[in-house]
Amino acid sequence: MGFCPQCGSGEPLVELGEAAGKSARATPATAVTLSEAREGSYERIATGLSEVDRVLGGGLVPGSVVLLGGEPGVGKSTLLLQLAGALAAQDRDALVASAEESVEQVAMRAGRLGIASERITLVSDDDVDAIVSLAADTRPELLIVDSIQTVGVPEIASAPGGVAQVRESAARLIRLAKETGIALVLVGHVTKDGGLAGPKILEHMVDVVLYMEGDPDRGFRVLRSNKNRFGATHTSGMFEMGSDGLVEVDDPSKVFLQGWEADVAGTVVYPAVEGRRSVLVEIQALVVPTSLVQPRRSIRGLDTARVNQVIAVLQRHCGLPLHDKEVYVNVVGGWRLEEPGCDLAVALAVASSAADIPLGRLAAWGEIGLAGEVRSIPMEARRIEELDRMGLTRRIAPTTGEPLRLREALARAGLLPT
Ligand code: TYD
Ligand code: MG
Repeated sequence: MGFCPQCGSGEPLVELGEAAGKSARATPATAVTLSEAREGSYERIATGLSEVDRVLGGGLVPGSVVLLGGEPGVGKSTLLLQLAGALAAQDRDALVASAEESVEQVAMRAGRLGIASERITLVSDDDVDAIVSLAADTRPELLIVDSIQTVGVPEIASAPGGVAQVRESAARLIRLAKETGIALVLVGHVTKDGGLAGPKILEHMVDVVLYMEGDPDRGFRVLRSNKNRFGATHTSGMFEMGSDGLVEVDDPSKVFLQGWEADVAGTVVYPAVEGRRSVLVEIQALVVPTSLVQPRRSIRGLDTARVNQVIAVLQRHCGLPLHDKEVYVNVVGGWRLEEPGCDLAVALAVASSAADIPLGRLAAWGEIGLAGEVRSIPMEARRIEELDRMGLTRRIAPTTGEPLRLREALARAGLLPT
């Protein structure tokens, strides 16, 4: 047909000619034994940014390819410039190829971040071959390409950012990394509507896939690894964006619980699990009367449908009159909770505010079902360990195999008569 019937584009189609004179046997490939292969196993460069090293599984592997995805404005360029700065502090060279910003813009940001080093070189070019040959000549230890959607190769007619361009550009850069041992970081933008066209199509080609998340208007950023050929996945690093760049947060629970006022109604702590560690976050609710027919539900940092479900269960199974109340629910610190395990903490925060009864230093977890039951959730030991560490001893949660009713949980918290 000459075009893709699904997306209408003719660009991803590549004509394949029949290979001329295919010989049955080519030169045999070279094989090595397992132990020989292990000899040449990779070293790692500890970058000096401990949260980045943690997510990478110990540091940057020479010749490896890392894809860093995230929404525009989340802080990818900032993080990578800081990474280049950290390597420069160890007398290691980095080349920053930015097709998105001019060298002056990058230099200005570096100034803001307090990075001034002759070890960092900048180039603003959108031609992949030009970047590849520059890197092959200068041999930096780290090459950053910001972003893969804004560079291209001349042989492909379409504009940068298209599937064919992104794939071919990445392929050439990856070849460079494998041949020279230069560690390569590709930036990939993820669009707001969740369209992962850019980074998604590269995930199988690279060694490590990292995503940076966070509300661009607020401070905290999480770096997650979705794939890592050199380490464990589902690790995470935490940062706070300040006026002079990203600052690593090494005790997130402590930061999140700063300013927690346990003697005010409507707040409960939830022991979230982020990557491999538990992080204590405060969930706040505010319930106020309204005369609106459709009362307002304002939810930040949580799944709206889930919170509405929790509100419905509170009404139906615990007799809480919320139909004529506005309900605001918020996760403090701009953190986003995707786990259904926070249902009980949400329910208790809402009920506490509705009754205007403070819960004190209370932590809660458990998933609420439509029948008003609270179920246990995974990784309980890790959550309890973190609560112990932070000295939160009052807890309400279902124990495995012993279902808890939401009514009963509310009664235990002193929000319903027993
Ligand atoms: P940026 O790294 O450009 O995001 P991305 O490359 O992911 O698109 O940075 C995004 C935001 O961070 C920008 O809106 C300004 C803010 N910022 C700070 O708050 N402090 C800083 O020190 C810097 C450099 C940026
Ligand atoms: Mg950027």
